[in-house]
Amino acid sequence: MESSSAIRRRASRARRVFLKDVLAGLRAEPKYLPCKYFYDRHGSELFDQICQLDEYYLTRAELAIVDRFAHEMGEQIGPGAMLVEYGSGSSVKTRYLLDCLPDAVAYVPVDISGEHLEQTSRELARDYPRIEILPVCADFTTAFALPLATRSATHAAVYFPGSTIGNFPPSRAVELLRGIARLCGAGGGLLIGIDLKKDLSIIEAAYNDRLGVTAQFNLNLLRRINRELGADFDLAQFSHQARYDNASGRVEMHLVSRQNRAVAVGGETIEFYAGETICTEHSHKYTVDEFAAIAATAGLTLRREWTDKNRYFAVLHFVVAC
Ligand code: AVI
Repeated sequence: MESSSAIRRRASRARRVFLKDVLAGLRAEPKYLPCKYFYDRHGSELFDQICQLDEYYLTRAELAIVDRFAHEMGEQIGPGAMLVEYGSGSSVKTRYLLDCLPDAVAYVPVDISGEHLEQTSRELARDYPRIEILPVCADFTTAFALPLATRSATHAAVYFPGSTIGNFPPSRAVELLRGIARLCGAGGGLLIGIDLKKDLSIIEAAYNDRLGVTAQFNLNLLRRINRELGADFDLAQFSHQARYDNASGRVEMHLVSRQNRAVAVGGETIEFYAGETICTEHSHKYTVDEFAAIAATAGLTLRREWTDKNRYFAVLHFVVAC
């Protein structure tokens, strides 16, 4: 158990890093904010709501794929595996997989939110008594060590659902995939969800829903900066914008300042002109071939692909190239 002073030290370190990242983004031209800061408690709730929206096809499509093909995925991953999930959250899709993984040795959910992780791990330990549940509280974008299972695993397989990989620029995605190949080593594999390229109107609708939940999710980042860093953003003066850029194959999400204005952030004054935007997220869409080429440069070879009936989303299985 972490002591209360250690928790306080960790929180104040996290606040310093948050402030440094926010100021770096707002001083830059064009302005940006890292999308990982969307997920405070309210932001995570809003994201859960996004996943239920009619327009946000991604979650439904991925769930349908895992529901239908979990047996084949389990066979592909093979017996005796340690399954490591990146950004596990409440491990909803994982249950389909765990049900179909032959003789899985351990499940390692990796998540930055310790609270979420403990709760989910307790529930999984109760529901899967034959699989050792070994939670790791870590940021999966930085290196971390795999825990030792009581029974030794034949190989490790990373499960990275949700198309979260699309929120990284391709160069960063390659680094992340390289880290996965290193973590799993020879005999290891990766099961990953990616959002596929498709008609622009379908993609743009997913990020501009009628109920305005995505707009709230986007604006909540400013609310968080106000609350945690004492800034004075007037949320009514910023509007949500999300557009698909064909050339880069990504949705670009922005907050647009309605007026010329100055905002105080961490003792600094940040100037905005009317129409100026803060880029808050990129969400890359791929074809299977494009993504397989990226993964190949990271030492991963595509073995199987599964898609939904509309071919909106794909779950891909890679093995570590020898
Ligand atoms: C988490 N990530 C895969 C989502 C996406 O679609 O890029 C985040 C999101 N942003 C707006 N809506 C959902």
